[in-house]
Amino acid sequence: MTSDTRPLAIVTGASSGIGYELAKCCAEQGFDLLIAADQPAIHEAAQKFRALGAAVEAIAVDLATLEGVDQLYAAAKGRPVEALLANAGHGLGHAFLNQDFNTVRHMIDTNITGTIYLIQKVGKDMRTRHQGRILITGSVAGFMPGSFQAVYSGTKAFLNSFSFALRNELKDTNITVTCLMPGATETAFFARADMLDTKVGQEEKDDPADVAKAGFEAMMKGEGDVVTGWQNKLQTTMANVTPSDMLAERHRKIAEPGSGEK
Ligand SMILES: NC(=O)c1ccc[n+]([C@@H]2O[C@H](COP(=O)([O-])OP(=O)(O)OC[C@H]3O[C@@H](n4cnc5c(N)ncnc54)[C@H](OP(=O)(O)O)[C@@H]3O)[C@@H](O)[C@H]2O)c1
Repeated sequence: MTSDTRPLAIVTGASSGIGYELAKCCAEQGFDLLIAADQPAIHEAAQKFRALGAAVEAIAVDLATLEGVDQLYAAAKGRPVEALLANAGHGLGHAFLNQDFNTVRHMIDTNITGTIYLIQKVGKDMRTRHQGRILITGSVAGFMPGSFQAVYSGTKAFLNSFSFALRNELKDTNITVTCLMPGATETAFFARADMLDTKVGQEEKDDPADVAKAGFEAMMKGEGDVVTGWQNKLQTTMANVTPSDMLAERHRKIAEPGSGEK
């Protein structure tokens, strides 16, 4: 990274989907980038962001591990991080008792452990500098018990909650914490979670560019959260007044294997 006039943003999971679009927003709006994902495809994404005028460092690391997060943090080489967009994550469909526990654990370690470890490391530096913006990709999935996606939804409930708690802890500082809560979005997420035969996997979804733009703008305004689209807004409002067993039954209808048409 050569530029020292542009602020630096770290974006995790920037190789595809919502994270790719978040990193693109950052590059277009004047940030340099330090981006990370698990697979080498992150380097192809870096080339595209360089074409937008950003200085970009890319690193392929498993953010489910503390070592991977340490490597990402070290790659900033002490340069102040103005914005941390903690977005990397993955889902996992099927009934809990049929899931492979190593994959379950990898998901928890990515979505929760690695995410909050990175936020703590970068957040401490932001506290020292009295400045910074943190965006966490939670989900509307965190508002309801997600039958046939049970652990994933739990990880997102954790992040939604954590985000508001951390925001409150930092309310007397110049560090803002924003939770981006997407609904179903057209990315590699559902294929990776083995949910392509489900209703939610097959239905029309939100555009990741629109979701990321809303998240980026909310982060820049320092807002607490952003839910995109009226249907998702309605869903989260209703979830607050609907019994949990009813929400779980509703989720079964869209996420049970074979619930899709094909
Ligand atoms: N799509 C939706 O409907 C939806 C809805 C609500 C929230 N979300 C959340 O949005 C975030 C982005 O997901 P997406 O929908 O954009 O899916 P995606 O296209 O599959 O992108 C996921 C990104 O996270 C990275 N990643 C996953 N596990 C990682 C690990 N252990 N270490 C490093 N990088 C890792 C992936 O990189 P590799 O490919 O290299 O692993 C990829 O860059 C996730 O947190 C997801 O939970 C998605």
